[in-house]
Amino acid sequence: MLFQVAYVSLSRLPLDENTLSEILEASQRNNARDEITGVLMYHDEIFFQVLEGEKSAVENCYYKRICHDPRHKSLSLMWADMVDSRTFPDWAMGYVGPDEVGRYTKSSFQSLSHLQSAEVVVANTNGVALELARSVFSDFNKGR
Ligand SMILES: Cc1cc2nc3c(=O)[nH]c(=O)nc-3n(C[C@H](O)[C@H](O)[C@H](O)COP(=O)(O)O)c2cc1C
Repeated sequence: MLFQVAYVSLSRLPLDENTLSEILEASQRNNARDEITGVLMYHDEIFFQVLEGEKSAVENCYYKRICHDPRHKSLSLMWADMVDSRTFPDWAMGYVGPDEVGRYTKSSFQSLSHLQSAEVVVANTNGVALELARSVFSDFNKGR
């Protein structure tokens, strides 16, 4: 069975392009090895990430590595559950940056900070955040 988690966190300043590419490189390398897929979005100093894969692999990645990473803080787990299939099967870790998030999310929410509101967190128990992530990400891919 597949396990899926989604969380938001705040980046610690300064988060420059080098830091972002270091995060992405390590993510893609480790996730490919561990058969973890997902997406990472970054906007307004907020990360939103979905991780999916075998339960112990996802838990190790999230609790043992990502949670201890000093490059971000205030992690808030929004979703953690078993799922039947992967939402992002083709991505060791797809990335959607500030410009894309801003461009594709205007109709649904202005920025990822809306994902932190209590209302949305409650809604996430129904997978709303995942749905948003999926739609942003698929629009993003179409536009490339
Ligand atoms: C927002 C954020 C997301 C991350 N996502 C992942 C990830 O999906 N997979 C991963 O292995 N590491 C991820 N990392 C990096 C880990 O915290 C850690 O630095 C890395 O796994 C160490 O890899 P290494 O031991 O191969 O150098 C993320 C870090 C941050 C700040």
